[in-house]
Amino acid sequence: MKLIYILIGSIGILFSACQPEPPEWMTDPGEIIFQGYKSVDSNCSRCHGRDGRGGMDGENIRNALRDLGETEVFEIIKLGKGDDVKGMPPLDGELSPEEIRSVIAYMKKWDSDDSTKTRTDSVATEH
Ligand code: HEC
Repeated sequence: MKLIYILIGSIGILFSACQPEPPEWMTDPGEIIFQGYKSVDSNCSRCHGRDGRGGMDGENIRNALRDLGETEVFEIIKLGKGDDVKGMPPLDGELSPEEIRSVIAYMKKWDSDDSTKTRTDSVATEH
């Protein structure tokens, strides 16, 4: 029985060794995940940019908490959004609920930036 734990443990160490260490000043657990130091899959900045303003694949999420609300953002991180190919992958299993909450806590630190628009901002309104 013990051998199994040792085996699982060493596989874990092997995998974590592939991830770079966060810089010393980065102590916020949510920031460490967002900037990709936990895993490639949960590397939000890879798609949404280091500051959340959007990048190659992901849109601007600077105002996501304000526009969508915390529950919705939690669900999106957990279950993903959009289609399988171009959408956001579900991170359930990759991130624990506590880890998702820490990412949200980190996103709350961003100043609400009105000069940039999220998708919900661009929904047409009737005049
Ligand atoms: C592989 C690329 C990728 C990764 C990694 C990723 N996202 Fe996304 N995300 C997307 C795409 C693409 C969308 C848009 C999905 C759609 O609407 O079709 C999206 C949408 C979102 C939205 C909703 C935005 C809106 O206004 O509808 C939030 C919030 C979000 N992502 C947060 C995160 C967070 C936090 C992480 C890290 C834990 C993360 N994403 C990781 C690609 C990614």
